[in-house]
Order: sequence, then structure tokens, then C-alpha cells
Amino acid sequence: MRITIKIKRQESREAEPYFQILVWDCDESTTVATLLREINAAVINDTSGEPVNEIAWECSCLQKKCGACAMVINGLPRLACDTKIGEIKSNRIIIEPLKKFPVVRDLIVDRSVLRENLLAIHNWLEREAVVNKKNTDLAYDASRCLQCGCCLEVCPNFTADDSFFSAAAFVPASRILSELPKRKKYEIVTEYKKHIYDGCGKSLSCHNICPAGIDVERKLSNSNSVAIWKRFFSKE
Ligand code: SF4
Ligand code: SF4
Ligand code: FES
Repeated sequence: MRITIKIKRQESREAEPYFQILVWDCDESTTVATLLREINAAVINDTSGEPVNEIAWECSCLQKKCGACAMVINGLPRLACDTKIGEIKSNRIIIEPLKKFPVVRDLIVDRSVLRENLLAIHNWLEREAVVNKKNTDLAYDASRCLQCGCCLEVCPNFTADDSFFSAAAFVPASRILSELPKRKKYEIVTEYKKHIYDGCGKSLSCHNICPAGIDVERKLSNSNSVAIWKRFFSKE
């Protein structure tokens, strides 16, 4: 099939963004990641005759395991390596960087705030995890978070420079909250309330967007239940 691709380009953090349009032939099973690799390997011009210089984008695993290739494809945050052209159901494809983070170049964004946010809520274990039948499935599921940022793209309350950390923080937090001994939860509970519970509008726009298939809504109720409600209703 012949597709028209509109890609948002930006030479550097300071440069003005612009769109470049090109035409490409591929089949429906081609992923957006393969498409970008093929375009970068070719010497082509865009529809106005300008050369298409190498498109900067990130990838590592190409198997939906690392989250590096998250970008906005026809308006939705998705993993390029997990998005087939046939699934898009259009022969016009618009590819943009995630909009909630500073652009480094083209489709590469600076997501370092995600790690900083996890540090800010004390999202780590200082000793061995408490593992039991009740928390094993939850901990495993939460540990699949790729830190890709797709859930933040659709969250109306998240901006990278604000104190509300959204799903990319409460999903990993749900694991740590379930694995910490009760007497050790104090710091993460305090920061959780400040950076997650108080800022979350419970709109659940983040539901059903996670490319790892994590049930984000369930993680939110799990972590709220441990961090906010049980804190007041159960004995430490
Ligand atoms: S919860 Fe899902 S969408 Fe959000 S950062 Fe983790 S893997 Fe990405
Ligand atoms: S429930 Fe709404 S405000 Fe809360 S993290 Fe999800 S999208 Fe953001
Ligand atoms: S390259 Fe790792 S998730 Fe796409």
C-alpha cells in the first residue's frame, strides 16, 4: 500500500518544530518502527522536493519491552515497534513526539523526569520485599511498567514540571506499597498523598492506554487503598 507520512521534525531543543511530508510504499504488517528504519536507510525527498534527513527516534528492544519507542501516532501515544500500519486504518499517518516532555530532537524526548519522580516519592525497597500470596500478582503486574510515558500523554492533570506524578509513578508505587513492611511505609505514603492522590482527578483517561497491558485503574485503586485508606483504618 502507498501511504502518506507526516512527521514532526525538530533539529534541537531550541529549534522550531515543523512537519515534513513524504510518500512511502509498505505492506500492512510493517510496524512504524520498521517504517522509520527503512526511511532512514533510504535516500529520499519529501513531497516538496526537500531531502529527508535522518529521523531521530529511540528504540532498543523492538519487542515491546523497553518503552523507548513511545511516540504519538495519529493522535494516540503508542509504541512504534508494536504498531502495525494495518492497525492504523488510514493511509495517512501522522507521527509526533510525546507532547508532555521536552523534545531533544525529532521524535526523541527527555523523559528523565520519570526517574526523578520515582525518587521523589521514595519508590524503592531498602530491605527485602514482603512477598506473600496476596501481593505477588500485583507486584509482578506493576513491575511490567516500561516507564514509556504513554499514560502521561492522555492524563489531563500531568505536566512534566508539576508536582503531580500520575500513572507512571502510581503503577510502580503500587508494587512498593504492597511489598514494604507496614512500619516502613511512612515516607512513600506521605509523598504518595502529595504527588499522586491529591493531584489525581480520577478521570481515568489513563485507563486502556498502557502498551504493556497494565490495568492502570486497578493499580490506582490498589495504591490508594494501601497508601490513603488503610493507613487510617488499620493498625500499623
Ligand atoms: S503504566 Fe503503562 S503507559 Fe504508563 S509508563 Fe508504565 S508502561 Fe507506560
Ligand atoms: S485518573 Fe485521570 S488524573 Fe488520575 S492519573 Fe489517570 S488520567 Fe491522570
Ligand atoms: S523498541 Fe523497546 S518497546 Fe519499542
